[in-house]
Amino acid sequence: MSTVPPYLTRTVKGGGCAAKIPPGILDKALCGLDLPVDDNLLVGLERADDAGIYRVSDELALVQTVDFFPPMVDDPYSFGQIAAANALSDVYAMGGIPKTALNIVAFPSKTLDISILRSILEGGLDKMREAGVVLMGGHTVEDPEIKYGLSVTGYIHPDRIKTKQNLLVDDRLILTKCLGTGIVSTAIKAGLAAPEVAAAVSLSMATLNRMAASVMGAYEVHACTDITGFGFLGHLAEMVVGSGTGVRITSAAIPLFTDVLEWAAMGLIPAGAYTNKSYRGGVVDFVDGVPRTMQDLLFDPQTSGGLLIAVPAAVAEQLVAELIAAGVVSAAIVGEVTASPVDRIVVQ
Ligand code: CO
Ligand code: CO
Ligand code: CO
Repeated sequence: MSTVPPYLTRTVKGGGCAAKIPPGILDKALCGLDLPVDDNLLVGLERADDAGIYRVSDELALVQTVDFFPPMVDDPYSFGQIAAANALSDVYAMGGIPKTALNIVAFPSKTLDISILRSILEGGLDKMREAGVVLMGGHTVEDPEIKYGLSVTGYIHPDRIKTKQNLLVDDRLILTKCLGTGIVSTAIKAGLAAPEVAAAVSLSMATLNRMAASVMGAYEVHACTDITGFGFLGHLAEMVVGSGTGVRITSAAIPLFTDVLEWAAMGLIPAGAYTNKSYRGGVVDFVDGVPRTMQDLLFDPQTSGGLLIAVPAAVAEQLVAELIAAGVVSAAIVGEVTASPVDRIVVQ
């Protein structure tokens, strides 16, 4: 076993959800494809959502999703935890309960010690255990860049699916984790992040959205998604565009990791933030006085970010209090659904 830290992030070009193919380019690959039609396909590719849902019976549907990416932290075990938590997140964002998983692995076994892969897999397994998920198998390929993630299957009741649709005027929007993982990862790569900050961000990325999903399960939730590669405003745009409503975000209410605004001001912004901004910036109006650094941060690609939950105003504060009491300590009301401007996001 090597005693030299592997510095996983130095072995890859871009890590975490920032490594996703940008949505505008992905549309070109998917556009016009002849997609299968099936009455039991309750949520499929025709409208973007977190996971696919297939009805088995009137009481049971399967939620299926897959997510994998290169490392955004140096520690292999933490990377395994984060990749698994991120892959499980889309099931929680639909209101489902993950049940089984398959590992997806790309690894340079000729140049890196195989003990590194073992640590990655251990981290992933620990998160699956915490989630009550059974690992059933997996697939590995030889690749110059490490990549790890899961294909996950969960259960959901067909009547209790939470999608990105159905925002209602006067709903409050609740975000359950701090923003800024892409910027912090950039600072870690530049050697600027203090170990405590890096550790806090790693912990947040490795935290399952399980508790947040379980608490929201008792509430009348109108819409839900999780915040990942397209950034806070990118994922919010998927909820807003076509909803017939607008959204007003209070940027000062957004929970942020320590130091991210300073790093953003120093230009430590991942390229993905600009890609997200060029794809979705057209539906966002920034009120005068919202600093440029905050604008960039709101498009920062997140790895294993929190849930974004729309609930009636009357229960929003109670839900936040219950989330915080359950250990989801960053949960905050960050905005509200408005009657106008239709299909647009106003950030104040
Ligand atoms: Co998602
Ligand atoms: Co995903
Ligand atoms: Co959803």
